[in-house]
Amino acid sequence: MQKSIFRKKSINKILQDSKDGYGDGEHASLNKVLTVKDLTFMGIAAVVGAGIFSTIGEASFNGGPGVSILFILTAITCGFSALCYAEFASRIPVSGSAYTYAYASFGELIAWIIGWDLLMEYAIGNIAVAISWSGYFVNLLKGFSIEIPAYLTLDYFSAFKASEEVLANGGSLEGLSESVKNAASAWATAPTIGGLRLIADFPALIIVFLITALVYIGIKETKRATNAMVILKIVVVLAVIVIGFFYVTPANWHPFLPNGFSGMMKGVSGVFFAYIGFDAISTTAEECENPQRDLPRGMIYSLVICTVLYILVALVLTGMVNYSELQVADPLAFVFERVGLNNISYVISISAVIATASVLLIFQMGQPRIWMSMSRDGLLPKAFSRIHPKFKTPSFATIVTGFVVAIPALFMNLTEVTDLTSIGTLFAFVLVCSGVLLLPPDEKINDGKKRFRMPYINGKFIVPILLIIGLVFFYKDLINVLDFSLGWDIIKERLPLYLFLILAFYISVLSFKKNLSLIPVLGLLSCSYLMTELGYTNWLRFLLWLALGLVIYFGYSYKNSKLNKA
Ligand code: ALA
Repeated sequence: MQKSIFRKKSINKILQDSKDGYGDGEHASLNKVLTVKDLTFMGIAAVVGAGIFSTIGEASFNGGPGVSILFILTAITCGFSALCYAEFASRIPVSGSAYTYAYASFGELIAWIIGWDLLMEYAIGNIAVAISWSGYFVNLLKGFSIEIPAYLTLDYFSAFKASEEVLANGGSLEGLSESVKNAASAWATAPTIGGLRLIADFPALIIVFLITALVYIGIKETKRATNAMVILKIVVVLAVIVIGFFYVTPANWHPFLPNGFSGMMKGVSGVFFAYIGFDAISTTAEECENPQRDLPRGMIYSLVICTVLYILVALVLTGMVNYSELQVADPLAFVFERVGLNNISYVISISAVIATASVLLIFQMGQPRIWMSMSRDGLLPKAFSRIHPKFKTPSFATIVTGFVVAIPALFMNLTEVTDLTSIGTLFAFVLVCSGVLLLPPDEKINDGKKRFRMPYINGKFIVPILLIIGLVFFYKDLINVLDFSLGWDIIKERLPLYLFLILAFYISVLSFKKNLSLIPVLGLLSCSYLMTELGYTNWLRFLLWLALGLVIYFGYSYKNSKLNKA
């Protein structure tokens, strides 16, 4: 049993399978139309969205102007992971992304776990993006004096929580924020069916269905729509930076870290969320003209462009108004309104609607392609790898993705889904970086194409030295963290950090003994560290999600795996 759950698929077998249509005559191949420019655009399309238009507000409120440092740190972390994705994508250019990479390096069980985890990144991430899209869209309609009843525009629990807040406020709306007032009015005005209030986010549902339809009809249509949306959002983000720059009051940048390092780190989830997406383009490997060369470039170019834009936006945002005013859902539009540029604020709202729609598009496209790969391997039913004869897209999987995202988007709450997406994605990055360490450096691949190679830097001494420097630097915090007398409530929040410390020691010893490659080691450690910042409750939810995945694996996939049958 132990041997069979860790059975691996060799890279050559994976490549052969994708070429010969999986040997069952049912899997037509996909359209190979994507170039490096398209891939870079798709990367930007997936990255620039709800994060920079929305979650940056909360992160800036907690971290102050220093949130720009967090953007740099997170970009470095993502950069290590991007290089690891690039290494894999160039060795294994098939659609399954991290799932396929894990199948080749860790074996079936871990591959299943990562496939299941990617469902969390893409599907739950898209639920978050759809909810955020709905928020901007409803505000935009208000600008045209079109009012949708509040109970049709948000989730049940936000409305319920707001009604509790009003009660706690003595039944008065006095002093409550606009969003709480709006949610409370949804609660008060919602029609009831059988005692249950009808409160759901319908714009979120509708946009998911529309985007799914576009993804269904073809990769070319998706590509054209993406390219147009990306140009628009880059122009708007550049305009924010350039125009905003003239309205910066340098005094707002002092103090740079008003709430210290820990305040800055509170923004990890929101800032990391803003970067998620560059990895999603690896799911289009089978639709690229030259995946070995273009996928790595596309990922790295899009990450670099987004990093530069993000750091500048963070500086402009926190320079235009005091950080303490930024706890709003639409911070970019807000700061321009605040300095009296209402028209620009309006243009930003329109662009946010388009930008978030393009993120939806890429993730809605990525998810079915991962399911398709899992189904080809027998881990999911055959229907998931069915390709539409005319549109050449994974038809059934695309429709299922539409429902899996649209229905929960009606009912779920933004913060919770953002946190889950971030922890799920970081976990995927950790596995991809670890997977690269397991790849033989001199593996010969039978396709004879030139490919991207990640530079090898020996981590033998560098990793242990970095660990020692870290321990010396954070000596005082470490003593504090290792104080176990503070009770379970505090200790449980620190459990992820303890795990991280054990991992860091283990990896340092391993690096010393086995001359591990530095870049994946740094990727693995930095992503694991960011995971420790996401709190005990998120970890618990994440582990529950993985446990559910294991039930499905042992209930269905283990038996039906093609490797099992072979
Ligand atoms: N990075 C994507 C966004 O910010 C998920 O919307």
